[in-house]
Amino acid sequence: MSQFWKPGTERPRLIDDEEGGVLFYSTSPLSSSSSGYGFASVEKQRQRLPVYKYRTAILYLVETHATAIIVGETGSGKTTQIPQFLKEAGWAEGGRIIACTQPRRLAVQSVASRVAEEMGVKLGEEVGYTIRFEDVTNTDLTKIKFLTDGVLLREMMDDPLLSKYSVIMVDEAHERSLSTDILLGLLKKIQRRRPELRLIISSATIEAKKISSFFSPSKRRQALLTEDHGPNAEPAILSVEGRGFNVEIFYVEDPVPDYLQAAVSTVLSIHDQEAMGDILVFLTGQDDIDAAVQLLSEESRNGQNQGLIILPLYSGLPRAEQDLVFSPTPRGKRKVVVSTNIAETSLTLEGIVYVVDSGFSKQRFYNPITDIESLIVAPISKASARQRAGRAGRVRPGKCYRLYTEEYFLKEMSAEGIPEIQRSNLVSSVIQLKALGIDNILGFDWLASPSSEAMIRALEVLYSLGVLDSDAKLTSPDGFQVAEIPLDPMISKTILASNQYGCSEEVITIAALLSMQSIWISARGTEKELDEVKLRFAAAEGDHVTFLNVYKGFIQSNKSSKWCHKNFINYNAMKKALEVREQLRRIAQRLGIVLKSCEGDIQVVRKAIAAGFFANACRLEPYSYNGMYKTVRTSQEVYVHPSSVLFRVNPKWVIYNSLVSTDRQYMRNVISIDPSWLREAAPHFYQHQQPNPIAH
Ligand code: CDP
Ligand code: MG
Repeated sequence: MSQFWKPGTERPRLIDDEEGGVLFYSTSPLSSSSSGYGFASVEKQRQRLPVYKYRTAILYLVETHATAIIVGETGSGKTTQIPQFLKEAGWAEGGRIIACTQPRRLAVQSVASRVAEEMGVKLGEEVGYTIRFEDVTNTDLTKIKFLTDGVLLREMMDDPLLSKYSVIMVDEAHERSLSTDILLGLLKKIQRRRPELRLIISSATIEAKKISSFFSPSKRRQALLTEDHGPNAEPAILSVEGRGFNVEIFYVEDPVPDYLQAAVSTVLSIHDQEAMGDILVFLTGQDDIDAAVQLLSEESRNGQNQGLIILPLYSGLPRAEQDLVFSPTPRGKRKVVVSTNIAETSLTLEGIVYVVDSGFSKQRFYNPITDIESLIVAPISKASARQRAGRAGRVRPGKCYRLYTEEYFLKEMSAEGIPEIQRSNLVSSVIQLKALGIDNILGFDWLASPSSEAMIRALEVLYSLGVLDSDAKLTSPDGFQVAEIPLDPMISKTILASNQYGCSEEVITIAALLSMQSIWISARGTEKELDEVKLRFAAAEGDHVTFLNVYKGFIQSNKSSKWCHKNFINYNAMKKALEVREQLRRIAQRLGIVLKSCEGDIQVVRKAIAAGFFANACRLEPYSYNGMYKTVRTSQEVYVHPSSVLFRVNPKWVIYNSLVSTDRQYMRNVISIDPSWLREAAPHFYQHQQPNPIAH
C-alpha cells in the first residue's frame, strides 16, 4: 500500500486510510470550495481569458516586431484567442492567411473546431486545419489555419518562403518537438527574405530567453536593419499573467511498484473522499490508458463507485470520444480523464480539480551507435511535473497526487526534458532539409544541435537507400521522389521500388495500414480471442501480407462495420486507412508510378519491402531456443513481438518495420525474407564498403 504526503516539517495528518486504497498525507487543511464555473456567452468566455487583457499589447508587438514571444500558462487563451485577435486586426485581409502550428495532431483538430465554434463559422471554411493526410481547409475561404509543425515544413517544399502566410504562430514551442526545432531554424532564414512576415512563438514555460537570443539578429545585421523602416528585428517578449489557483502537491511515501494500479486506486480514493471535481490522470500511452479505463469501469460497475464517467484521451481517438472529453460534466457526476501527456499543455480541460501524475510519459529515444529508435516509457522532467500539477488549478484550488516520492522529485528528476531533435533518428529531417536546398546540414542554424553521430547515421542510411549521392546531394529522381512522399523514407523507397516489381497497389495498401496506430481492437481480457481472429487473416510470410488479407476482407465485406466488429478490427482505423491509401495513390501517380497489382505474387511485395527496409534485417540466432534474433547491421538482440503473426514461428531471416522496447527489444510488423534480396537491394550496405557521405 502506498502512502502519500505533502512536503512539510512534521509527519503529516492522515487523510485517507481506506483498505485497498493508497494513503495520502497533507500538511495543510483540506480545501473545500465549490466550483465558481458557470455558463456564459461565447464572447463573455473569451473576455474572461487572461490573454484578453493583453489584446492591444499583443497586436502592437506583432505590428512593430518581426518576432514576438508570448509566454503564458496553459489555458490562458494563447492558442484559441491570438489567431482571432490577428484576424480581427486585419492580418488575414488581401488573401493572406494566419497560421498556427501545434506539435500534435489531436490538438490541431480540437483547437480548430473550438475556434470555428467561437467565431460561429463552419470548420473548414474561414477556420480550417491540416494534418498529415487530412486537409480541412478551403483555398478561397480559409483565413485562420491550424496545422501541425510537420505539415508546415512540408508546405515549404512547394512554397519555400511560405508566402501565403502573413503571421505564423509557432505554438507549444516549449515542447521542442523535432519539427518545431527545424521549423524555427527555417523561419529565421525566411524572415530575412520576407521582412513583412511576422512570427509569434508561444510557450507555456520560460524557454523564452533561449528562443529570443536565437532570433536576435547579429550586431552587424542589426546595424543594417535600422536603416530601413521595417519592424524591429529584436524579438519582443510578453508574459501573460495567468490566474491559476493554488495546487496542493502530494507525494507517495514509498515508490509504487505499479503506477497503473496505483493510479487506479488513487482515483478511487479521491472519488470516495474528496469533494466533487473532475480528475485528470497522466499515464503514458494507449495501452496503459485502455487498461486503466477498463479497471476503473469495472470498479464503477461494482456499485460503490457510481457517478464516475471514465474517458480515455490519446491521439488517434475517434472524434466522438474526443468530444466527450471536452463536454461539460453532468451535475452530480465526476469525470475521470485518463490521458497521455497531450493534456499537459496542448489541451485544456475545464473542471479538473485533481491530477494524478504517474511520473512517466512515452518518449522517443534514438541511439546512433545501434541505430535503434524506440518509443519508451521514461520518467518526465520537473518542468513537465509542474505543468501536470498546474492542470488541477484551473477552476479552483486543486490537488495533485504524484505517484513518486518527494526525494525522487527533488534529487533525481531532471530539470528539463531533452529536445526531441537530440533523441531522434534524423533520416526524415535530413531528407527534408536537403529537399529545401539546405546542403550544409551540420552548419545549419540549430536551436539545439543534434549529435554528429546521429547526423552521420542519417546520411549513411539515405546514401544506402540511394536517396543521397556520394556528395550528399539528393539523387534524381529517387531522392526527390522519396522526399515528396509524406512517409518515412524507408517506406517511401518501398513504394518507389514497387514500381519496378509491379506491385504498387499492394505496397500502397500496406503503407496506408502501417500508418495507422493499430488496426486491431485490443482490450484486456480479450487477447486470446484477438489472437484467434488474427489467425483467420494470418499469412505465413508475415504481418505485411496479413494486412493485405485484412484489407481484402474489408473490401469484400463492402466496408462493413459489422464485419470489423466481428473480426476485432478497428473500423475507424480501416476507414482512415482507405483515405490515406487514396492520397498515396494520387501522390504515386503524380510521381509517375504505375498503379499495378501483382495479383497474388507475394514474393515481389516482399522484395519491394526488402528494397526499402534492408537496414532492418535480422537473422535468427542459430540454436536459439527463445527466438532471439540479431540485427544484421549492429548485432543487437531483438525478438518478434507477441502481436506479430510470426511470433513463435521465427523464420530464419526477417525484416521489421519498427522496434518497441519493453523488457526487450521487440520487432513489430515483421516479414520473412530471403537474405539474397538484401545484397540485391543494397550491395554497399551489406559489404561494409560504403564511403561515409560527408556533409558539406
Ligand atoms: O493555448 P492556451 O493553453 O493558452 O489556451 P487555449 O487552448 O486557447 O484555451 C483557452 C480556453 O478555451 C480554455 O478555457 C479552454 O477550456 C477553452 N477550449 C475549449 O473549451 N475547447 C477546446 N477544444 C479548446 C479550448
Ligand atoms: Mg495552447
